[in-house]
Amino acid sequence: MKTIVSRRRFVGHMAAAMACVSFPPALHAQNRAGIGRALDDYDGMARLASNENPYGPGEPVLKAMTEAFKYANRYRYPDPGIVRAIAESNGVQSENVLLGAGSTEILHVAATAFLQNGKKVIGVEPTFSSVYEFATGLRTNAIRLPLRSDYRQDVPALIKAVNASADEIGLVYVCNPNNPTGLIVPKQEIRQLLDGIPRHIPVLIDEAYHEFVEDPDYATSVPHVNEGRPVIVSRTFSKVFGLAGMRLGYALAPANLIQRMRPHTNGLNVSALAKFGGVAALADRAGQERVRTKTIELRKKIPAELERHGYSVIPSQGNFFMVHIHAPVTTAIGQFRERGILVGRPFPPMLEHLRVSIGTDEEMERFLAAFKEIFPKRA
Ligand SMILES: Cc1ncc(COP(=O)(O)O)c(C=O)c1O
Repeated sequence: MKTIVSRRRFVGHMAAAMACVSFPPALHAQNRAGIGRALDDYDGMARLASNENPYGPGEPVLKAMTEAFKYANRYRYPDPGIVRAIAESNGVQSENVLLGAGSTEILHVAATAFLQNGKKVIGVEPTFSSVYEFATGLRTNAIRLPLRSDYRQDVPALIKAVNASADEIGLVYVCNPNNPTGLIVPKQEIRQLLDGIPRHIPVLIDEAYHEFVEDPDYATSVPHVNEGRPVIVSRTFSKVFGLAGMRLGYALAPANLIQRMRPHTNGLNVSALAKFGGVAALADRAGQERVRTKTIELRKKIPAELERHGYSVIPSQGNFFMVHIHAPVTTAIGQFRERGILVGRPFPPMLEHLRVSIGTDEEMERFLAAFKEIFPKRA
């Protein structure tokens, strides 16, 4: 009797924990293989608008987070070692790591720390524009440079513009690979940028999509952190690790820059669940590899089909791609929505390009069928 009661209780607790995260393990396993619908299919929409990972966290990560529920009522609990794990996985020291509630918090903290007294941020447009928006909140603004005609970031133009207004600039923002184009800034150009601008201006290099890059001309900028350059690398657990809803990201930077940013964070910004999940996610190499491999497979397959249909696609290194639709993107977004597919927002001035996040096999097939229905084959 005793056993039955405790087993029942145990099952009850597990069910409650699972309900909270709503990942039935069987469905989860099925989706990790990239088969079937997305995990959180609550309204039948294919979610291809936010560059998320449709498979969600893997079993070891889910287990670690489920176990961490028991600390939900505490400010203090055993340290899961997330800072150490991040430092080790990136080859830096713990003093070079700052945690954020997602990398968006890191972008916010960098803006707050370095854009005081009307200092401006400079970077390209379109890009992930959060830093530019935070600048507005700080009563300053962004100097936005156009992309080159091949949609790449124009590093010589950026160097020139920084030097032309060096006294006004508090932060340089480079998204690498860039969202929404998916194009990288090659490693030699990152070095040129760092060599070509005054050393007192920090460069924030947003590597949210780092894990999806295959291009050999790309390299992480973490070695520049170890060289003591004024570089802040931001990373996230929202993409390959599938933890967007948990909110975990971090900055890697020389200790003096971390010290300048830290007072602008809330020391309790990251939850116990996110910390325990993050440690498990870093250790789950097989899980990362499955997501990476499947994403890259679809990043090649779907654009190739669109090209065969007569539409060019920017060769992306992220978990998304941009297709030139030769029509207004706002109309297209509505047409896809009517067909149960959510696709990316407009990215001015690229208003005839549609950004599509890479979902499951099934979602991408639905996207492709809808695309062919909406857009006629081009010669
Ligand atoms: C380039 C880039 N940086 C940062 C983020 C923010 O991610 P998070 O706050 O979930 O870490 C995103 C999200 O899409 C992104 O595309």
